[in-house]
Amino acid sequence: MSTLYIDGRKVPATGGQSIPVYSPVTGEVYAEIARGMPEDIDLAVKAARSAVNGDWGRMSATERGRILVRIGNGVLANIEELAEIEAKDTGKPIALARKDIEALARYFEFYGGAADKVHGEVIPYLSGYTVSVVREACGVVGHIIPWNYPAQMLGRTIAPALAMGNASIVKPAEDACMTSLRFAEIAAEAGLPAGALNIVTGYGREAGAALAGHPGINLITFTGSPDVGVAIQTAAAVNHVKCVLELGGKCPQVVFADADLDKAVPVIVGAIIQNAGQTCSAGSRVLIQKEVYEDVITRVAAKFREVRVGLPETSPDCGPIITKAQFGRVNQFIQECKDSDLPVIAEGAMDNDLPKGGYYVRPTLFGPVPRDHKLAREEVFGPVLAALSFDDEDDAVALANGTDYGLVASIWSENGARQQRMAKRLEGGQVFINCYGAGGGVELPFGGIRKSGHGREKGLLALDEFSITKTVVSHHG
Ligand code: NAI
Ligand code: MG
Repeated sequence: MSTLYIDGRKVPATGGQSIPVYSPVTGEVYAEIARGMPEDIDLAVKAARSAVNGDWGRMSATERGRILVRIGNGVLANIEELAEIEAKDTGKPIALARKDIEALARYFEFYGGAADKVHGEVIPYLSGYTVSVVREACGVVGHIIPWNYPAQMLGRTIAPALAMGNASIVKPAEDACMTSLRFAEIAAEAGLPAGALNIVTGYGREAGAALAGHPGINLITFTGSPDVGVAIQTAAAVNHVKCVLELGGKCPQVVFADADLDKAVPVIVGAIIQNAGQTCSAGSRVLIQKEVYEDVITRVAAKFREVRVGLPETSPDCGPIITKAQFGRVNQFIQECKDSDLPVIAEGAMDNDLPKGGYYVRPTLFGPVPRDHKLAREEVFGPVLAALSFDDEDDAVALANGTDYGLVASIWSENGARQQRMAKRLEGGQVFINCYGAGGGVELPFGGIRKSGHGREKGLLALDEFSITKTVVSHHG
């Protein structure tokens, strides 16, 4: 019987209904999850509020930090089990799943260590006054997370929230919940009090919408599609609740004629292939300076042809796409590109004998892609790389910044002055110079502008997002 996790207990959904869980590897149902309803969200909000008003809310920062560190240790102690759950649920290669679980642990280590280092300020004011600014928990936080990196997203969003003494309600994606349910048990064993973390599985339009529009929450964080981001902001606005949103990208990798291609090419291909391209910060556009376009694209294509799609346990470069719906979307996007006569430069290889019902997509490199083509502007969320060319730095900046998104960008050049000029001019939350990989560093503030969202997660800055200041003015003469 599938259950929710509310107030430190496994409970059935009030409606008694469940949702089938499909394996991306075979397309077959292998489990079920509870279908949480608005009534379950109500219960979770009550439990979270009690935790905030109770022992959890009163606990010292040092003690909270200790619990978080213990959670991180608990995750590492169960890394193989969690990685297997994650790989089975998402279809991602087992080695990637293991890295994701390590990142989950890292979030708890990092924010556990940070919990008692959030200092306030003292402000010089009028004679006879002492003014301090303290940071306090927001209260009850709703977290709606996606299916592409379920474990990492869980750590990224709840570890800083808990570090600041908030109580969390997580609505994982209906397509990948399994790791978060197992994680809740590990967190409880590490000493996290009942009500501090609640997991309500269910559909976005039911449990998700109820959470986003609940008057009892104080903050909502969401990672997912821009359209749902609008729905969440709209629902939260009614209750004057702040939102932190991360909504994807169309991230450029800008390759100049002076780039070190031996370093650049494997990273460029890896940045779109990782997790079968289902990554908000996937490097989905490679922008190449005109005079080296042919040379660079030849080398990228050769690397691209080495990409192998296979079963998660065989350590392929790409596993399957998460769901039938996403599989359909990605395939349709690729078909539309082919129908519009966009040249296919290279394709990856599919292993033989992949299960017929699984959601396997052949990675595809298209180019040269016209600047106004759909593929140059819209997120595919699959293993599809668009190659475009540019003239000079000004043109590269216009092209790189020329989509609705702004999340991550990279610069490939051996010229230090150019690196700095470009880093200043590229728009988004992170810029990488001669490297790429937003997923890695839990220490590095991350987030978007425009359609990529707003607010910052990761790093110490996340502690600002998950807390609120209070200015205390004392007149003592
Ligand atoms: P989605 O945005 O519908 O789902 C993400 C989460 O939001 C899930 O937990 C879902 O249950 C929840 N949700 C859906 N509708 C909701 C609503 N009305 N109120 C509250 N919560 C709601 O994303 P979906 O449909 O799975 O994927 C569609 C596209 O979204 C992808 O092709 C990709 O472009 C983008 N996406 C971006 C992600 C990122 O990391 N930025 C992650 C997942 C999807
Ligand atoms: Mg959706």
